Amino acid sequence: MSILVTGGAGFIGSNFVLDWLAQSDELVINLDKLTYAGNIENLQSLNSDHRHVFVQGDIGDSALVANLLAQHPPRAIINFAAESHVDRSIHGPEDFVQTNVVGTFRLLDAARAYWSGLQSDAKQNFRFLHVSTDEVYGSLGKEDPAFTETHRYEPNSPYSASKAASDHLVRAYHHTYGLPVLTTNCSNNYGPYHFPEKLIPLMIVNALAGKPLPVYGDGQQIRDWLYVKDHCSAIRRVLDAGHVGEVYNIGGWNEKPNLDIVHTVCALLDELSPRVDGKSYREQITFVADRPGHDRRYAIDASKIQRELGWKPAETFETGIRKTVLWYLENQNWVTNVQSGTYREWLEKNYTGRAA
Ligand code: NAD
Ligand code: TYD
Repeated sequence: MSILVTGGAGFIGSNFVLDWLAQSDELVINLDKLTYAGNIENLQSLNSDHRHVFVQGDIGDSALVANLLAQHPPRAIINFAAESHVDRSIHGPEDFVQTNVVGTFRLLDAARAYWSGLQSDAKQNFRFLHVSTDEVYGSLGKEDPAFTETHRYEPNSPYSASKAASDHLVRAYHHTYGLPVLTTNCSNNYGPYHFPEKLIPLMIVNALAGKPLPVYGDGQQIRDWLYVKDHCSAIRRVLDAGHVGEVYNIGGWNEKPNLDIVHTVCALLDELSPRVDGKSYREQITFVADRPGHDRRYAIDASKIQRELGWKPAETFETGIRKTVLWYLENQNWVTNVQSGTYREWLEKNYTGRAA
């Protein structure tokens, strides 16, 4: 038995692969294009592990995917592969349409051809699990109830629009062709191996480097935060017991304004790695121009997955964020290695000239 994981060298995908092989001996075929966000170093502990087969390639390469499916027939495909950063989608939406929309379509089509050729039990047990985001639902007002699975889609960024399109294609492949799909829509993740262009790792890395901590707008935008290992356990649970064709929202019951997140990170760093001048890292907070079209609030109602599948997060924000800050302090080599030339180009593009 094996599973095909796409995007398994990225932040969540690599955590998922590591957790999977810590708990099971089932072979993982890991298909990842290794874009700037893919980092094979995340998986170095699996270098000589025969349960992990890494293949560099694009989910949109139909011939490659068809070959992989024939060579290592999986019982499930878990699709993490995506362009995932909202700010990048504002600067360059094309890659998002290419991977998130066209790529997911081609992957679905290859999965359909493969699944159609399976024999009875294997066909019935096969699953295509699509990993998506709460951002497809759009922005909430302060008092609005949290997103449920039936909330209408109102994506506002090229990223969320491309993920919304992929969710619709997944749904259509189930309703039209009967492909046994599952979709998960999760809130903001944080934890080990998070690329330091996203809020939490960027704040940790910039703080330690003595750089400004750029807070967009007034910093009162609200996100729901979930420790990445909890997201991975939810996906495993949905894969095991989710009802075909269903959507499951995954979240941490943990809504926080961005500025509170930044203050928490600063407080932990003040405790665990104080500045030499004795001042707080908060001194480095800088308010910068807001993100265009910035969604004000996301909130996930994760009661369906708790009620139907018995899943709830194991970490609170307090335990998860402490583990995360400690991980970055203990893995400064990883940080140095991902801060390559292209990373610096990104910082230049996104932050230079961003007036306060
Ligand atoms: P990431 O950007 O860290 O990783 C994406 C991975 O996909 C990278 O390894 C990259 O190399 C790979 N990839 C990109 N294009 C590819 C292609 N065409 N073919 C094969 N591989 C390709 O993203 P992440 O944060 O790990 O997110 C994983 C998934 O979870 C995404 O689908 C994202 O939309 C979703 N999600 C993320 C969050 C979050 O907070 N990070 C929350 C909810 C949902
Ligand atoms: P991000 O980590 O990019 O995730 P997403 O946009 O998918 O939610 O950003 C999280 C929040 O933090 C979002 O409201 C934008 C904000 N943010 C900043 O204020 N400053 C930054 O430098 C970054 C990267 C994000």
